[in-house]
Amino acid sequence: MDYTVPSEAFKRIDESDDEIFYREPRLVKHIDEAACTALTSYLSTVLLPNSQVLDLMASCASHLPEEISYGGVTGLGMNQTELNNNPQLSSSVVQNLAINTKLPFDDCFFNICLITVSVQYLIYPIAIFNEIARVLIPGSPCIVAFSNRCFPTKAVAIWHQLTNTGHAKLVGQYFDATQKFEPYTVRDISPIGGQGDPLFVVSAKTQPV
Ligand SMILES: C[S@@+](CC[C@H](N)C(=O)[O-])C[C@H]1O[C@@H](n2cnc3c(N)ncnc32)[C@H](O)[C@@H]1O
Repeated sequence: MDYTVPSEAFKRIDESDDEIFYREPRLVKHIDEAACTALTSYLSTVLLPNSQVLDLMASCASHLPEEISYGGVTGLGMNQTELNNNPQLSSSVVQNLAINTKLPFDDCFFNICLITVSVQYLIYPIAIFNEIARVLIPGSPCIVAFSNRCFPTKAVAIWHQLTNTGHAKLVGQYFDATQKFEPYTVRDISPIGGQGDPLFVVSAKTQPV
């Protein structure tokens, strides 16, 4: 795959530099409170104490349960003010993944990677998922959570063509394409009774050595 030009499926309505769109901080949550609670509750079932956590495509909220102690929480996003306002991050870095797909982290460093309500903005998802596999310790999970909300002008074209089920299959294909993850699973963790934003998780563990 040519990582200098995204294919048609990964074009966006707004093809201008992401730095322009994300220049102004948005100090808001991108899913409603019920979905945030569902996400944090789900994460409490998969996070182990003292983990090194990578929050990829981070903003001012990491959705991590507060009762767990972490070895470190590293956020990578587009806006330093958003990252500075995230109380759960122990370190942060601004990097535009549409320009530079190489993650600025050592091999086999993190115990878990999270991408919450952001995967639809990746224009080189397979390159990024390969990088996630590189920086995760073998046998560690990558958790991708998404809802039905997005910044429409910045979501990739294929995201607009698909339903929730299709989004899950698409993310699953990102895992499969790397050939570095175990088979993925899909979960509907939407708030009970439809009382909130729908929420889905696609996750897979890197292959053990
Ligand atoms: C809807 S917000 C979600 C933020 C956070 N993960 C959450 O759960 O609230 C989308 C995030 O994706 C990140 N993002 C979008 N395009 C990006 C890019 N090209 N490179 C790196 N991060 C990007 C931005 O930092 C932005 O905060």
